[in-house]
Amino acid sequence: MAGENGEVVRNKQVIFKGYVSGFPKETDMEVRESTMKLRLPEGSNGLLVKNLYLSCDPYMRTRMAKLDFLTYVDSFRPGSPITGYGVARVLESGHPNFKKGNLLWGITGWEEYSLITAPETCFKIEHTDVPLSYYTGLLGMPGMTAYVGFFEVCSPKKGETVFISAAAGAVGQLVGQFAKLFGCYVVGSAGSREKVDLLKNKLGFNDAFNYKEEPDLDAALKRCLPEGIDIYFENVGGKMLDAVLLSMKIHGRIAACGMISQYNLQQPEGVHNLMNVVFKGIRMQGFLVFDYYHLYPKFLEKVLPQIKEGKIVYVEDTVEGLENGPAALVGLFSGRNVGKQVVVVSRE
Ligand SMILES: NC(=O)c1ccc[n+]([C@@H]2O[C@H](COP(=O)([O-])OP(=O)(O)OC[C@H]3O[C@@H](n4cnc5c(N)ncnc54)[C@H](OP(=O)(O)O)[C@@H]3O)[C@@H](O)[C@H]2O)c1
Repeated sequence: MAGENGEVVRNKQVIFKGYVSGFPKETDMEVRESTMKLRLPEGSNGLLVKNLYLSCDPYMRTRMAKLDFLTYVDSFRPGSPITGYGVARVLESGHPNFKKGNLLWGITGWEEYSLITAPETCFKIEHTDVPLSYYTGLLGMPGMTAYVGFFEVCSPKKGETVFISAAAGAVGQLVGQFAKLFGCYVVGSAGSREKVDLLKNKLGFNDAFNYKEEPDLDAALKRCLPEGIDIYFENVGGKMLDAVLLSMKIHGRIAACGMISQYNLQQPEGVHNLMNVVFKGIRMQGFLVFDYYHLYPKFLEKVLPQIKEGKIVYVEDTVEGLENGPAALVGLFSGRNVGKQVVVVSRE
């Protein structure tokens, strides 16, 4: 239950301890208890919210470093709670778009209660006949990423071959299903037998392989996609990108969504087969989901019916309690998560 307006409540928080280099560790964060008065500061146009579900996303690793390059995101502040996408209930609103009791998804704090100072970046949740946690994934940022990355960036045609890396994760599982529903031949890679089984037997992929058990990625791709790849949905970078370039078809497209294999390296691996982009006329395009948020209503219109008709299978990996958040977050970088990694703060 949320506290009464003006009441002072316990506020458990996940505090960012300091900038990280190399692989992030649970001990880079600390769970602390503080208190919070449930009242908006005088004159604030922000929102006082109770956090319900938090999303673990790979880009959060970028925010653990001291950023010195141009990007949309800023670094976490040492000594403050980490922030990220989440689902929350509004307890008090100083903004005309929201009122007490509304549900929203957007950037919030890793804590029980938060003051959101940029409510204009949050989306009001209007459809509550699906699990609320879906707004951290399928109906939130990762779902939008899969949707715009595939339909807007890849320019797919029915019957084309699609390859997806990190295919059993939040974004990958959805790209695969959007591509299948659209009429493509879909192959994915993932890092365990369990995930490969999930891709082939639950998520409807035509084929899949465990990249950790393949000594030759080029051979694995040629085995699963002997005629080559029209579309590569790039989530991992590094050696996989190099191998994929060899299998790309003429006029193929690569949506550069992310390169998780590089996020914790001090020195990024080089790409050796980039000449394929030239002589095959490949279009390789990076994208950030934030540039496409204006398409969110169109996305909901398409995906909500598909969920209700049971056309989309959605896999979540849920941990209970903020205190289990740090391990869940760093687990993304060892492939601990099967499906979308969610942290439950409160089921209300
Ligand atoms: N462009 C955008 O706007 C945007 C938005 C959202 C996400 N992204 C990117 O999309 C990608 C997927 O994100 P997500 O949220 O769906 O994460 P996720 O796939 O749910 O979780 C990350 C997965 O990456 C795999 N992985 C970790 N380290 C790896 C490595 N060294 N080599 C290969 N695979 C590795 C692991 O699966 P395995 O067991 O298969 O190794 C892990 O489960 C990330 O690169 C992320 O940065 C981009």
